[in-house]
Amino acid sequence: MPVFKTILETKKQRIKYNGSKCGLIPTMGSLHKGHLSLIKKSLKRDDDIWVSIFINPTQFNCEKDLKKYPKNLDEDLEKIKSISKKINVFLPAESEIYPKKIESSKFNMNNLNNIFEGVDRPGHFEGVLTVVSKLFKIINPDNAYFGEKDFQQLCIIKNWQKHNNIPVNIIASPTIREKNGLAMSSRNCLLSKSIRNEAGFIFKSLSECKKICRNGNEIKEKLLEDFNKHLAFKLNYVACIDTNSFLEINEFRKFKESRLLISASVEGVRLIDNIALNN
Ligand code: PAJ
Repeated sequence: MPVFKTILETKKQRIKYNGSKCGLIPTMGSLHKGHLSLIKKSLKRDDDIWVSIFINPTQFNCEKDLKKYPKNLDEDLEKIKSISKKINVFLPAESEIYPKKIESSKFNMNNLNNIFEGVDRPGHFEGVLTVVSKLFKIINPDNAYFGEKDFQQLCIIKNWQKHNNIPVNIIASPTIREKNGLAMSSRNCLLSKSIRNEAGFIFKSLSECKKICRNGNEIKEKLLEDFNKHLAFKLNYVACIDTNSFLEINEFRKFKESRLLISASVEGVRLIDNIALNN
């Protein structure tokens, strides 16, 4: 399976396939079935498929979080190979992506970076857009695949693509879950076994909210009640949003597209999840 470590090699390889449909799946490695679902989606639509594996330092607002981020390169390459040997892997060193200084560029995110995840993680989305824009310039894909699990990230990328006329289709893919409902995440392996099992209550709770709650206030009440039964878990925020404007709403049943977003912390790990409220 072809693995490219430099921008130069990558660009040369891309030129060879000029004219065929190119799909890019940006990742930070420690691949799980969520990542693999994005790769499989690209395999159905694209001819020249690229998976990038790069733990992007600028999107970590805490040194400790960056240091403990899981790394499993050999397993990652095996997993990609088992899907298809023709998938290209872009595996740059930090100095390739940030040759001068490890810092983010500035972006106008129409304030989407200042709410929800952005409140507790200042600079996080600037870091994400910095690396995604660099990857787009290097690989020049037709399609780029992102998971709905990181819903705010997906919306910020879509918003940036639209307002700057970036010639890449952003393709969203549903959240893949563990058996107990916990959204798959590379960070889940940092949890103890018992907490990882217990964490299944979050999606159960979101699903019940969707079924029985009539408005945002009822949702908040129900979630607080559920979190009170799982005291190891700290609820960071819960919000119902209009999916199109990303504005917080209460009477979500009136909206065509709305989502419930949640973030919780446990054992020093931040978990995020979301559910569509009206389908
Ligand atoms: P990472 O967390 O590795 O995720 C890479 C991609 O996989 C993202 O688009 C994410 O939304 C998607 N993903 C993660 N868990 C998923 C799940 N359970 N189901 C479906 N998709 C899932 O997100 C990042 O990396 C980084 O911020 C990145 C975009 C690569 C920029 O550095």
